Amino acid sequence: MSDTAKIVIGGAAHDLPIVVGTEGDRAVDITKLRVTTGHVTLDEGYANTGSCRSAITFVDGEKGILRYRGIPIEQLAMNSTFVETCWLLIYGRLPTQEQLKTWSGLFTRYEMIHEGLYKHFDGFPPTGHPMAILSAMINAGSCYEPDMMEMESDTTFQVAAARLISKIRTIAAASYKASIGQPIVYPKPHLDYCSNFLHMMFSLPYRDYEPDPDSVAALQMILILHADHEQNCSSSTVRMVASSGANMFASCAAGVCALWGRLHGGANAAVVEMLQQLHDQRVDLKEYVTLVKGKESPVRLMGFGHRVYKQYDPRATILKEVADRLLGRLKRPDPLLEIAKRLEDVALNDPYFIERRLYPNVDFYSGVILRAMGIPVNMFTVMFAMGRMPGWIANWKEVHNGAIALYRPRQVYVGEPERRYVPIHERSAAGESGRESGR
Ligand code: ACO
Repeated sequence: MSDTAKIVIGGAAHDLPIVVGTEGDRAVDITKLRVTTGHVTLDEGYANTGSCRSAITFVDGEKGILRYRGIPIEQLAMNSTFVETCWLLIYGRLPTQEQLKTWSGLFTRYEMIHEGLYKHFDGFPPTGHPMAILSAMINAGSCYEPDMMEMESDTTFQVAAARLISKIRTIAAASYKASIGQPIVYPKPHLDYCSNFLHMMFSLPYRDYEPDPDSVAALQMILILHADHEQNCSSSTVRMVASSGANMFASCAAGVCALWGRLHGGANAAVVEMLQQLHDQRVDLKEYVTLVKGKESPVRLMGFGHRVYKQYDPRATILKEVADRLLGRLKRPDPLLEIAKRLEDVALNDPYFIERRLYPNVDFYSGVILRAMGIPVNMFTVMFAMGRMPGWIANWKEVHNGAIALYRPRQVYVGEPERRYVPIHERSAAGESGRESGR
């Protein structure tokens, strides 16, 4: 196979190098295209654009494969812990026992947030969305860690990464407590990452919450499965912000904002809202599927479809099993899980979904699991952010350590051609477009 591509513009042929990834992905390198031809490429929504070379996560959407640093997600979900997976993503290899001990120790050492930072919670109204609070607090956290702003040494970087992953769980739980008007609960150093989070979410001043082992195991699994997913919207945002030289806190706070939207991380909450509505209003599922297929329909089947997967999302396969297992163990059947399974069945047998290769994604079953743990719906996307933090940090590090230029896409301008400035007394309400053209 040729290792160059040819593009013919205005009769002139130009060779473009082909870049081949370690798993055989092939990309046409167009970096020099504008300089040599005066043309840029246009790919709205980046559906066909490789924005970087990355060694962190591999996804094959055709085959339903997801690997972190080469290790299949199924193996990590079965055998790893979230804390270990964080190290793997950030450092590119599994930690030794000694490394894991040190790493885990850093999480414990930095689990508290500065007392001054707690006061910020008073400034948010009780109706404030936890994602807004999370993003603001991560950014505000950088004010309390000025030494973390410049991370030129490996040790400073390691401490900053551990701090951020550890503290996001403290901030997340505190934002929940603040939103329901309960006193904030401090972390307990003897608890593992997931148990500590559940303790801060559900303990009360007069009663300690005893984390249930099945919920802890399910949470561990959820966090591992969400830990990275190559150039998704929020990780690309983190890379974009990092490319300007912005610090890790600022870049990850931007990642939280990008994750919030319903087409990305916000879908996990939207799925449960949809299932709840189907349940409460006893909607016929076939009719609902007909509704979401409508060309003009404002609704989509939430938790279905993916930009990359044209197969069942491997994370959804695992989460469906986890949902069954957890609800069974807790002896807490949830009608929403039954509706989700029936809805999946209807959709997967419908020609519209078959032709477009739309399958359940990671968000389809995660909400049912979080609900069973007692996590409120407005915290679902915060849980996603907690899981995604190591992926964001790994991406931040790749940009920060690499000789990567500022991320600065081009555009095709489709606005007004040049026209003159019109003094206010000469303007008409209908607008000046065209008539005022000064070309
Ligand atoms: N319900 C109904 N139709 C859908 C859905 C859906 N969930 N997803 C895609 N389609 C249809 C589109 O209407 C379009 O149909 P058309 O070809 O007749 O115009 C076709 O499938 C292709 O859809 P696009 O929007 O072009 O595909 P894209 O790759 O841009 O979208 C996305 C991916 C945004 C995830 C989309 O599938 C979607 O909106 N899903 C629902 C929201 C969701 O679950 N998001 C979470 C994604 S996973 C994550 O980010 C963690």
